Amino acid sequence: MNRPAFLWGASISAHQTEGDNRFSDWWDFEMKTLKERGGDVSGSAVDHRSRYKEDIDLLADAGLNAFRLSIEWAKIEPQEGRIDESAIKHYKDLLKHLRKRNIASCVTLWHFSLPKWAADKGGMLNHDVRRRFCSYVDLCAKRFDGDVDIWTTINEPMVYLMEGYRWGKWPPGIRSRRKAFRVFFALRSVHRDSYRILKRNGTKMVGIAKSVIVFECGKKANLIHRSTRWLKDAFWNKSFFLFAKRFHDYIGINFYITETVGPKDREYEKDDMGWEIRPHGLEIAILGARKFRKPIYVLENGIATGDDKKRITYIESRKIDIRRSLKAGVDLRGYFHWSLLDNFEWAEGFGKKFGLIAIDRKTMERRPKPSLKAYGEQAG
Ligand code: BGC
Repeated sequence: MNRPAFLWGASISAHQTEGDNRFSDWWDFEMKTLKERGGDVSGSAVDHRSRYKEDIDLLADAGLNAFRLSIEWAKIEPQEGRIDESAIKHYKDLLKHLRKRNIASCVTLWHFSLPKWAADKGGMLNHDVRRRFCSYVDLCAKRFDGDVDIWTTINEPMVYLMEGYRWGKWPPGIRSRRKAFRVFFALRSVHRDSYRILKRNGTKMVGIAKSVIVFECGKKANLIHRSTRWLKDAFWNKSFFLFAKRFHDYIGINFYITETVGPKDREYEKDDMGWEIRPHGLEIAILGARKFRKPIYVLENGIATGDDKKRITYIESRKIDIRRSLKAGVDLRGYFHWSLLDNFEWAEGFGKKFGLIAIDRKTMERRPKPSLKAYGEQAG
């Protein structure tokens, strides 16, 4: 079989890195809610918009061969119906630079933030907003497709609907089981329609980036714990793929979290987000996705830590998981580490460090961490 080279990459998203996303719902939320709580606002983020060449060069020079980024709808269409050609040119230039450096691109069309005008109309619950999103997808397919290797329609639909509509911690700040349920089906139709549009435009690889949580039970678990584990796994990890079954060319997984249902056998070390670092967690997540019988990409995986040595150890152990999954015969095509850059970690602000590259936010100077070098050497 003529298998494409394995992709060793790193990920970012637009709102978290580019800066100046003033026409988005997140910008508004930061000004009104986060600032009031004393939290960070994204502001100029880490100025990836003007420093993308330097960032891509650091990734390429380290020996990586893939980059995942997102296009910001709020920048392409800051007001309803008004397309900003300078934003299109920016992403075109960025994609050209990736080609020049021989870096494969994975492009996400929607990574959590919406244009403010779309959010004001009720976001994806409004049929008209979904229709406008489809026009944006069509525009992106027409203007960027030749330069994109992998398309991702939606980043983490379950996280979006829980954070925004069930727990109310992110925009639009709603706490309603009923609305969260409606958003699930709205996102499913958004994904399905976007998939069709991209395919109509001749695109090869289209999927979503799905947050996968490894749910497990300890030895002392009873039947109730085991059934709960099964239900949680079905709801969080499988439902979205199953409800949009025919609309994935690959299975994209973002993996960070392990949760034990019932009594624990042992405690695991935690990162700065409080997330447990479960040995072989990534391997379990990958093997769990195998049942969909599609190629698999790990589109995000990483650790929040100020101690870069821990990141190096973490990456080494993930590499073992990848090797073991390939050995088990999984059609795993790539791994993207989150994140290339320290960035704006949503409601958590800039304090949480996921990056392979540190940024001095006063001067915006890039300082590659030893983990970037270590990851690049291990890749391949
Ligand atoms: C998201 C990223 C986020 C990362 C770490 C994922 O849920 O896609 O935007 O920064 O996790 O929390």
